Amino acid sequence: MRIVKTVRELQAVADAERVAGLRIALVPTLGALHAGHLSLVDEARRRADRVWVSIFVNPTQFDDERDLEAYPRTLAADLARCREAGVDAVFLPPAEEMYPAGDPTWVEVAGLTQSLCGAARPGHFRGVTTIVAKLLLAAKPHVAVFGEKDFQQLVVIRRMARDLGFDVEIVGAPIVREADGIALSSRNARLDPEARAQARVLSRALAAVERAVAADERDTARLLHLVRSEIEKAPRAEIDYAELRDPESLEPVPPRLSGPALVALAVWLRPAVRGSGPGVRLIDNRVLHPPNGQEDPP
Ligand code: PAF
Repeated sequence: MRIVKTVRELQAVADAERVAGLRIALVPTLGALHAGHLSLVDEARRRADRVWVSIFVNPTQFDDERDLEAYPRTLAADLARCREAGVDAVFLPPAEEMYPAGDPTWVEVAGLTQSLCGAARPGHFRGVTTIVAKLLLAAKPHVAVFGEKDFQQLVVIRRMARDLGFDVEIVGAPIVREADGIALSSRNARLDPEARAQARVLSRALAAVERAVAADERDTARLLHLVRSEIEKAPRAEIDYAELRDPESLEPVPPRLSGPALVALAVWLRPAVRGSGPGVRLIDNRVLHPPNGQEDPP
């Protein structure tokens, strides 16, 4: 497995692979790799001859300094996982390689980034789109794979790639869950056992609303009430947002569902002792599909 630390070297390798007629897939990550990331690697492998993983804890997407400091750095284990998974190259740039000194150039998607996580985390998506644009320019991949757990991120990156004319296919890979339903996330490691047990309310709320839609409940307010009341069963859970949105535009859905809808959740799991820190913020989502053939007439 090749380790590459500079943009120039990665671009040179990309040029050589492309001349040889090989397809490159990139899996951008912040490190702290878990089974969710490995599923992205598997998806990348299905779509390309070469699988590259980037590991870079991107400072500009952390809106809170404490969150950046608390982000787990597990490089030796990450590299071992990549090797085991048959990754061909890991891009491991130092910070100054991605952000040369001076005021940075930003890449920013308007509109889509104003709501949901964008409202709660100012500047976050600007950091994400800036680093992803830089990674795409460095790796020149044919395909780049991102997890659907960060659904808004995926929608924003798709829009950026389309608007800037990147010659790359942006692929979303399904959420990977623990046996009890919790979506895999590097943040789960920061939950104490009680918070970990209570975090199950997120996937339970998604399952409940999915069952309701399958039983032909279309009333948006009633669906949202169902989601909220499931989450409120956990005493340490505090809703940041629980919303029903159009899966492409991320606009709020009409009062009566007439097509696919994204249920997007962000929930704080507060510490057992109030005042001892903000706790851990988890996100999860599901796209709901009203039963076939029962769409409302236009
Ligand atoms: O989803 C992530 O891990 C990050 O936001 C990404 C896409 C690697 C950009 O730093």
